[in-house]
Amino acid sequence: MTTHHFSTEVDSGPTAELAVEAHGLVKVFGDQRAVDGVDLVVRRGEVFGVLGPNGAGKTTMLKMLATLLPIDGGEGSIFGVDVRTNPHVVRQLLGVTGQYASVDENLTATENLVLFGRLQGLSRPAARETAARLLTQFGLEEAATKQIAQFSGGMRRRLDLAASLITRPPLIFLDEPTTGLDPRTRGQMWTTIRELVEQGSTILLTTQYLDEADQLADRIAVIDQGRKVAEGTSDELKSSVGRSTLQLQLVSADDIPVAASIAERLIGESPVLTPEARRMNIALQRSDQAVDVLVGLREQQIHIDSVTVQKPSLDEVFLALTGHDTGEGGADTDPPTGRDSNDLEAVR
Ligand SMILES: Nc1ncnc2c1ncn2[C@@H]1O[C@H](COP(=O)(O)OP(=O)(O)O)[C@@H](O)[C@H]1O
Ligand SMILES: [Mg+2]
Repeated sequence: MTTHHFSTEVDSGPTAELAVEAHGLVKVFGDQRAVDGVDLVVRRGEVFGVLGPNGAGKTTMLKMLATLLPIDGGEGSIFGVDVRTNPHVVRQLLGVTGQYASVDENLTATENLVLFGRLQGLSRPAARETAARLLTQFGLEEAATKQIAQFSGGMRRRLDLAASLITRPPLIFLDEPTTGLDPRTRGQMWTTIRELVEQGSTILLTTQYLDEADQLADRIAVIDQGRKVAEGTSDELKSSVGRSTLQLQLVSADDIPVAASIAERLIGESPVLTPEARRMNIALQRSDQAVDVLVGLREQQIHIDSVTVQKPSLDEVFLALTGHDTGEGGADTDPPTGRDSNDLEAVR
């Protein structure tokens, strides 16, 4: 297999362990601070999710880090390269989706990718080879000779991602990669993203979808009104809200009153009982209390059929952190953002 290199920077590979490092990022539009002092650290090889509702400042943040929008305050670097002072090097390290708005709809998928490859400095044979490889990788072989104008939303999104990968960038920015896609196409995009990570890419993605962040991201920053309100793994965010529930089903309904009083003594709160189903649900302050309850029940020879610990959903986490929901109205419904407002088109 041949690989194509376009600069010594990419050729030697970035050595810094931090793919993204930003401190106090600020963007001001008029009297609005669209991004209001955000710190961000993305480690090499991880998927980092920026989760926030429409208008939170996600796209603006990515644009600044991608050198597509001037930084008004703070600083950012990509693999140790300063975004402000070295934008040309930064661009070689980055694949950014959303560039497709400007492409000719009458071109076929292959023609588009070849064009992009040529614009990036590839020879004609190299551009053709790269186009063919990417179309296969993204399941677009059959669409290779189709005009973009006939593409579905999902196909466009995949072609867009394919185009951003022509130079094999070590870091990929995905701005709401599945917004507006139907659930099946969305699943395909998730698979593609996971494959990219397996192949060694680092990914910074934005999303309004809590389940998407939950499924894909190693770590998540929750952004609201230009500020970071929380950060951590999905599990950490969920436990920070501290509303896990221990759900128990007992062997005998007769044990329920005794079991309830044990749980109440240990946790300090009375469980919710469903005697006809031999069930009790206990709201935990901390997840390690589950063990206390199980040990307490065993000491009294109370037999248990099944145990589950239900963590709070990321939706509950978001609500607890920001006082409002993401406004997405469920991941399977039409999202509030249109494709256009989401594009990372260059501003210069
Ligand atoms: N070019 C612009 N001029 C003025 N305001 C803008 C511009 N781009 C974005 N904004 C505003 O900045 C805020 C953040 O926008 P954006 O970064 O697009 O949010 P998100 O991507 O999270 O939906 C919004 O209130 C938006 O209206
Ligand atoms: Mg956006």
